[in-house]
Amino acid sequence: MKHYTTLSDIENLEELIQEALQLKKENTASAAGKSKTLGMLFFNPSLRTRLSTEKAAKLLGMEVLVMNADKDGWALEFEDGAVMDSNKAEHIKEAAAVLSQYCDVIAVRAFPALEDKETDESEIVLNSFKKYASVPVINLESATGHPLQALTDAITISELKTSKRPKVVLTWAPHPKALPQSVPNSFVEVMRKMEVELVIANPEGYDLNPKITGDTPVIHNQEEALKNADFVYVKNWSSYEQYGKVLKTDREWTLTNEKLKPSNNAKVMHCLPVRRNVVIADEVLDGENSVVIRQAGNRTFAAQAVLKRILEN
Ligand code: CP
Repeated sequence: MKHYTTLSDIENLEELIQEALQLKKENTASAAGKSKTLGMLFFNPSLRTRLSTEKAAKLLGMEVLVMNADKDGWALEFEDGAVMDSNKAEHIKEAAAVLSQYCDVIAVRAFPALEDKETDESEIVLNSFKKYASVPVINLESATGHPLQALTDAITISELKTSKRPKVVLTWAPHPKALPQSVPNSFVEVMRKMEVELVIANPEGYDLNPKITGDTPVIHNQEEALKNADFVYVKNWSSYEQYGKVLKTDREWTLTNEKLKPSNNAKVMHCLPVRRNVVIADEVLDGENSVVIRQAGNRTFAAQAVLKRILEN
């Protein structure tokens, strides 16, 4: 693996899932990354991605440098040929080249502005690091995807499934703020590579990018979608159709125990952080169906498997 910026960087998903599960079973440190440095740049907040990736790197014997690039770094210019007479003090060309001398792998988190679809889909931050860095680049959640989270979700479903082809429902849930489509995009992409029956449930106006959902059934009725579900993945996202807008905030789509009754005693997943009693009710998160803590625990082994593959390249 050269970079890990999208799920298409995975050559064999099943093999990578099994490798991550093996790393989880062993749960020991190795020296695979001795004398190597991972540099992580965060343009947005994080708890799980930051700490699980740092832990994964350390389990591989790597040194880790972390920077809150939005607060502590110079404001970066990404436009080619820009006349830099505004507030942006450093060009990505120099920044990426310099970082490539300090780090053997660079990992970047940069959310979308959710103002202009075309701008966000150009993935200018992530792609500029890929273009100007001379070392591998890892996506820690970008404008349109969160492939480390998706690999984690695939690992979690693989280890918990009790049938060959479980029914997996991705359901939208309300949230007061406009959130990116990155997590659901990558979740749909990874599920479409697995042997599952995938169904997406969301209100009218919240259909995801059809280039990503493809022929996946999209149902605008949550109750109908949840019937016989083995896994329910709950997530909010802002509208893709009316790009970045919040069209609905009432609690009609909040996941409760009552909603889970027609499911096949479904395991409930969420990438976290989750707003309790808005996205998912306390009774679900504190109940036996919730696997969100195990899911977050698997973030370490997803990151470890990816870093190991990059180091081996
Ligand atoms: N799920 C996830 O990416 O969590 P953080 O935003 O805390 O990293």
